[in-house]
Amino acid sequence: MPARSHAPAHDVVVFGATSFVGQILTRYLAREFGTPGRLRWAIAGRSAEKLAELRAKLGPKAGRLPLIVADAADGAALRRMCSDARVVVSTVGPYALYGTPLVQACAETGTDYCDLTGETHWIRRMIDAWEPTARKSGARIVHCCGFDSIPSDLGVYYLQREARKRFDAPCTTVKMRVKGMSGGFSGGTVASMMNLVKEASSDPVLRRELADPYSLCPRDYEPRVRQPNLRSPAYDPDFGAWVAPFIMSAINTRVVQRSNALSKRAYGHEFRYDEAMMTGSGFTGPLVATTVTAGLGAVMLGAALPPVRAVLERFVLPGPGEGPSAEAQRRGWFDLRFFGRTDDGRVLRVKVTGDRDPGYGSTAKMLGQAGACLATDFAGSGPPGGFWTPATMFGDRLIERLTKHAGLTFEVLED
Ligand SMILES: NC(=O)c1ccc[n+]([C@@H]2O[C@H](COP(=O)([O-])OP(=O)(O)OC[C@H]3O[C@@H](n4cnc5c(N)ncnc54)[C@H](OP(=O)(O)O)[C@@H]3O)[C@@H](O)[C@H]2O)c1
Repeated sequence: MPARSHAPAHDVVVFGATSFVGQILTRYLAREFGTPGRLRWAIAGRSAEKLAELRAKLGPKAGRLPLIVADAADGAALRRMCSDARVVVSTVGPYALYGTPLVQACAETGTDYCDLTGETHWIRRMIDAWEPTARKSGARIVHCCGFDSIPSDLGVYYLQREARKRFDAPCTTVKMRVKGMSGGFSGGTVASMMNLVKEASSDPVLRRELADPYSLCPRDYEPRVRQPNLRSPAYDPDFGAWVAPFIMSAINTRVVQRSNALSKRAYGHEFRYDEAMMTGSGFTGPLVATTVTAGLGAVMLGAALPPVRAVLERFVLPGPGEGPSAEAQRRGWFDLRFFGRTDDGRVLRVKVTGDRDPGYGSTAKMLGQAGACLATDFAGSGPPGGFWTPATMFGDRLIERLTKHAGLTFEVLED
C-alpha cells in the first residue's frame, strides 16, 4: 500500500454516526474500545448539533471523542475527513443516493472503507468507476459488512475452510437456509429497498442486472454455471424441510459468487450457491412457505406501484431514524444453516448464529469489528487496494473477532 505523507489521527471514523444503526454502532464501539481508548475512533455526520448530542449520550468520558462535520455531497469535506482516517465506516444510506462521493474520496486518498449497503447495482457502479483508482491508492473498499452479507459470506468461507481440512476438496454445491430469525426493519433499510424497487421498475437493463447471479463478479469472469434460484415453495430433502424465498438472497448470493471469483475459484469452477428460508417439516411447512412466498411477492409488487409505495412509506413503514425498539434488538437473534456437498458426494453441515436482531444489534457489532479489523489487523498489510468482499478481505481474522466480541458462532454440525 502506498505510504501516506502523515499518520492519520483516527483509526476509524464512523460517518453517519447519528443514523439509527450508527447510534447502536457508536454505543458498541464505546463499550468495546472506550471513548476513545485502544482504538482511536471519531464520529462524523452532516449536523454538528446532532453529533454533539450523540457524544453527550455516550457518557462523561466521551467528551474527548472527535467530531467531524461533513455532508455526503461535499467532496472537499469528505477528502479532508478521509485524509485523517485509516478507515471510514459509513452508515449514510440509501447508498445509491448518498454514497458515491465518499467511495470516490476513499479511493482517491487511499483510505480503507466499509459499509452496510445491500444495493448491488450501486456496488457494481462503484467497482466499475473506482476500482482502478483504489488499486493505485491502496484503498480497500469492503461493501456489505452487516447481516447482508457477513454471515452468508463468512459462513460459506468457513464451510469451505473446513471442507478442505476434512476432504481436501471444496464443496461445489452449498445451500444456506435460514432456520429462524427475529428482528425488524429501520427507516434507512426501507428507504434503500424502496429506492431500488423504484429504480428497477422503470429500468429494464437494471432489472436484468439485478437478476444476474454473477453481477458483482469481475467483468472478465468466465466460468458460469446456471445458479439455483428458488421462486416458489419447495421441499428441500437435504434439510428435511419446506423452504420459501429469502429476501436477502438477491444480495448475499452475489457477494458469495464474487468471493469465489476473487479467490481464484477456491469454491470450485462450477460452484453453485443459493439461499432460502425454512418453514417447517410438518403439514404446516408448505402452508407457511406459500404464505411467505405470496407475502414477499405482494410487498415487491406493491412497492413497484407508485401510489401503493407512497402509502406504505407514509403510513406503514418506519421513517428515517426509526427502527426496532431496544428491547426488540436485545431479544432478536438469527440461526443460519449451511449444507455443502463435494463433487464426489461428501457432505458438510455448518451452523452460524447471532445473538441480537440481525439488522441492527448484530449488524452494528459486525460493522464495528469489520472497521476495527481493517484499521488494526490489516493496517499496512493484507490484500492490496481494490474492492473486496468480507470473506476475501477479512477471512479468519473477522471470524475470530465476531466469535469473541460480537456474539456470533460458527460451528460444524457433526452427524
Ligand atoms: N446490510 C445490513 O444488514 C443493514 C442493516 C441496517 C441498515 N442498513 C443500511 O444502513 C443504512 C442506514 O440505515 P439506518 O436505518 O440507520 O438509516 P437512517 O436512520 O435513516 O440514517 C441515515 C443517515 O444518513 C445521514 N444522511 C442523510 N443525508 C446525508 C447527507 N447529505 N450528508 C450526511 N449524512 C446524511 C443521516 O444524517 P442525520 O442523522 O443528520 O439525519 C442519517 O445519519 C441504510 O442504507 C440501510 O439500508 C443495512
